[in-house]
Amino acid sequence: MLSNTIKQLARQYAPDLIRIRHHLHAHPELSYKEFETAKFVRKKLEETGIPCQIMAETGVVGIIRGNDPEKRTVALRADMDALPIREENDIPYRSVHEGVMHACGHDVHTTILLGAARILHDLKDQWEGTVKLIFQPGEEKNPGGASLMIKEGVLTDPAPQAIFGLHVHPGLETGKLSFRGGMVMASADELYITIRGKGGHAAAPHLTVDTILVASQLIVSLQQIISRNRNPLSPSVLSITSVQGGHTTNVIPSEVRLMGTFRAMDEQWRFRAHELIRKQATELVHSMGADIDLHIDVGYPMVYNNESLDNVARTEAAAFLGKENVLETEIRMGSEDFGYYTRQIPGCFYRLGVMNIDKGITSGVHTPTFNIDESAIEIGAGMMAWFGSRIDFKG
Ligand code: NI
Repeated sequence: MLSNTIKQLARQYAPDLIRIRHHLHAHPELSYKEFETAKFVRKKLEETGIPCQIMAETGVVGIIRGNDPEKRTVALRADMDALPIREENDIPYRSVHEGVMHACGHDVHTTILLGAARILHDLKDQWEGTVKLIFQPGEEKNPGGASLMIKEGVLTDPAPQAIFGLHVHPGLETGKLSFRGGMVMASADELYITIRGKGGHAAAPHLTVDTILVASQLIVSLQQIISRNRNPLSPSVLSITSVQGGHTTNVIPSEVRLMGTFRAMDEQWRFRAHELIRKQATELVHSMGADIDLHIDVGYPMVYNNESLDNVARTEAAAFLGKENVLETEIRMGSEDFGYYTRQIPGCFYRLGVMNIDKGITSGVHTPTFNIDESAIEIGAGMMAWFGSRIDFKG
């Protein structure tokens, strides 16, 4: 049976994949600077005999054709960038790039996709269709590597009918996968606001336009947009995360700057909220006699998993790994540029358990002590190869 052959190969390649992961982990590169990583991925694919090309400067796309390659195309995606975090793990493959760390497991995602590629290539006379391998840059930073890859045509020629991506999940035991149909992760937009008034003596506020008071009113007022205008059944959050203004007790500053994030799981509401935020902020600030500059940096769209693809994926995952290992994942207000793909074609973004309490592997992503239970690599590579060989999604 093909699934057993895939599992055997995943097991056989696991030690080599772990070496690959150590190399990637030790040599992390920041978003859009993944030059060496892309070179490495390209070399690995070419060594395997998989044709590939560079896209979006530091992305790599490979193609594996099985029997009857026109029959269907499925895309498998990995992200490759690291974070500006100083690694605190005491491990032989600790980051050698000071202040840069694979703290979100994108080294693992890249390794897993290289493993799946090798398996699919080995078995290409045993499955039908085409598998497109997408190794993308810049998941951690706007505008999102996915958006650049799409702009350069990664979803055309051949056009995949479905796309799969996984993310390591440090809250899920190794051996388990978790899935969810519909909304999975939120859209994320950044708010930058500058309020300008008239500074002056704190004992004579009547001679000033008090930017601190204006900013305070505005912060409260923005929360009311979220609580009063949004459908309560639709998750959405606005957080003001930075307030900068003033430096002493007896001066009212002439300027206050705010930053924040706005997240949603409904694209219509998302852009309506932008309008409400703009209108309310402008009117409020003007009514208090101050001026405002407001910039909303539009970030990633929400990740929306196609419900019927999610059902197919769960069934296939259960067939491959056993029903008991396929769980439901929770909604998160975090964001992922995988949302750019799911906005274009049916997608399935699932989670791979990497936690191992006995081995003390429990640190969250984006922390300086993040690590994974490496036995998950074999599972991820096998699962991705199985999806790549199996899924014929007609929508
Ligand atoms: Ni990530």
